[in-house]
Amino acid sequence: MNNRPVLEAKDLKVAYGGNLALDLPHLAVRERELVGVVGANGAGKSTLVNGLVGWSRGTPKISGKVLLDGRDISGLPTHERVRSGLLLIPEGKLVFTQMTVEENLSSTSDETDLGQGRRRYSTDEVYGLFPRLHERRHHLGSQLSGGERQMLGIARALRLGPRALLLDEPSIGLAPRLVSTVLDTVRSLVDSGLTVLLVEQNVRAAIEVVDRLVLLERGRIIAEGPAADMRDDPRIAEAYLGAHVA
Ligand SMILES: Nc1ncnc2c1ncn2[C@@H]1O[C@H](COP(=O)(O)OP(=O)(O)O)[C@@H](O)[C@H]1O
Ligand SMILES: [Mg+2]
Repeated sequence: MNNRPVLEAKDLKVAYGGNLALDLPHLAVRERELVGVVGANGAGKSTLVNGLVGWSRGTPKISGKVLLDGRDISGLPTHERVRSGLLLIPEGKLVFTQMTVEENLSSTSDETDLGQGRRRYSTDEVYGLFPRLHERRHHLGSQLSGGERQMLGIARALRLGPRALLLDEPSIGLAPRLVSTVLDTVRSLVDSGLTVLLVEQNVRAAIEVVDRLVLLERGRIIAEGPAADMRDDPRIAEAYLGAHVA
């Protein structure tokens, strides 16, 4: 891991009407780093990753800068940010339900000149990472389980040659055994060169795989640091337990 940020946000603010849902002075994800963003429901985790790609369900006011490899991409529409390699796998996944697994994985464009730090994974490689997808390759997206769809969402993103991958709660709705399978795979992707920002509500699972952890509360960072230090942070301990212990 070197020190150069691949992805950086400066003074990123997202407001819905009068409600400031995100107020982020600075966030950086460095080359080959796995940064976890945790926080309670409604803390602003999705608002953060959506804000980075300039996408939203509603019509928020977004201000501030987003830099990819030092280049200011804040003025670009979402599809242009995606083309430059900033790929978000939103909550609720992003797969084509009326296509088979195989079609989902081959429907990505074959443009080869992706530029700095980017590499398009082959279908064989993604099948190697997710053998289950190979077994299910002739099934439709709609026939897949939640875990399989999540894997397919990640696999599709890898086919596009991500520079940085943003994952919004990949473990949501998954059986505990699958949670660690998916998060371990994310860890191994980072170990093999990918840069990832991972949103998780499951702090216990996240802290096992991330390099750094950021704790959000009401749209603001209230704690951040290396995973090893954050384990002993009382605010994280509280999040672990999910509620105050009387
Ligand atoms: N489309 C929207 N319109 C209005 N408010 C929204 C919208 N999306 C999110 N919010 C508000 O922004 C805050 C953060 O939401 P969100 O980012 O979805 O939280 P998280 O992903 O951490 O659960 C919440 O108060 C939520 O009600
Ligand atoms: Mg969310």
